[in-house]
Amino acid sequence: MVTVSAPGKLMLMGEHAVVYGYPCMVTAVDQRLRVSAERTRSSRLSLDAPGSRDTRFVEAAVARFFATYGSTITDRGVSLSIRSDFTSQVGFGSSSAVSVATLKALSLVYEIEMSSREIFDAAYQVTLDIQGVGSGFDIAAAVFGGTILFKKGGEIIEPLPNPVPLVVGYTGIKADTPTLIRAVAEKHKKEPEKLDKLFAAIGKLVLQGKEAIVAKEWEKLGKLMNFDQEYLRNLGVSSEKLESLISAAKEAGAWGAKLSGAGGGDCMIAIAPEEKRRSVEEAIEKAGGQVMSVTTHAESIRVDV
Ligand code: MEV
Repeated sequence: MVTVSAPGKLMLMGEHAVVYGYPCMVTAVDQRLRVSAERTRSSRLSLDAPGSRDTRFVEAAVARFFATYGSTITDRGVSLSIRSDFTSQVGFGSSSAVSVATLKALSLVYEIEMSSREIFDAAYQVTLDIQGVGSGFDIAAAVFGGTILFKKGGEIIEPLPNPVPLVVGYTGIKADTPTLIRAVAEKHKKEPEKLDKLFAAIGKLVLQGKEAIVAKEWEKLGKLMNFDQEYLRNLGVSSEKLESLISAAKEAGAWGAKLSGAGGGDCMIAIAPEEKRRSVEEAIEKAGGQVMSVTTHAESIRVDV
């Protein structure tokens, strides 16, 4: 029996624009999802995933694994057990973490060498098979951990130094990522020039944000996050609840705050001076958000004992 764990993620900057080829930044968070795998005598997959809404991703990852490596495997009975520190509600990327951890666990029980890049490529294909859309940034966070500058499909996966000290507020609302990506695509069809300009502007902010992270200039990063949020609002992906948590955080002294992920719900993130952190958290709670205690820059996929 082997147990593999993969971290969840939070998008720092560049959501949506990344789908159109611009860079984004993502950080892995220390909320982990675990897959334990064991070969069995049966010829089928046996799955124990209480409360999980991601079984489609597990099944697709298993199918992809056997389709790629199965010619040398005669005995396909395997039992998988999934446990997670976080639910699929919060937007920490449970489907990407489960796809990645499943592939890694299978490679270990069947003694097949899979590089990190091969795991990334296979898990990205699983996302595309099931959702049809997505950049793969969440998969990169699960496979490589830390904080990453990322381009669609893994064209760039550049590790960045320095954990970003975030305050995270959950809206209590589950975002529907594929629907939001498609809504933005519809807008892009109607107003291609406007949206292309907007995506390019977000892409520029991301590169400035990268410099701020490298230099640990958190106030500057906060200001860049505010500009990013303005563009995301213009794109129509923010929501009343996100806006009220973001305003509350800024009024309580955060340098910057924005939605994180597809929008519509899930989490917002803020960056604040250390001495204001507590009041920013209280303001988010008072505005109806739930503060999530997470550490950023978490470890990549790993074998747990
Ligand atoms: C969703 O969390 C972030 C998006 O950019 C989609 C993606 O990159 O896959 C909207």
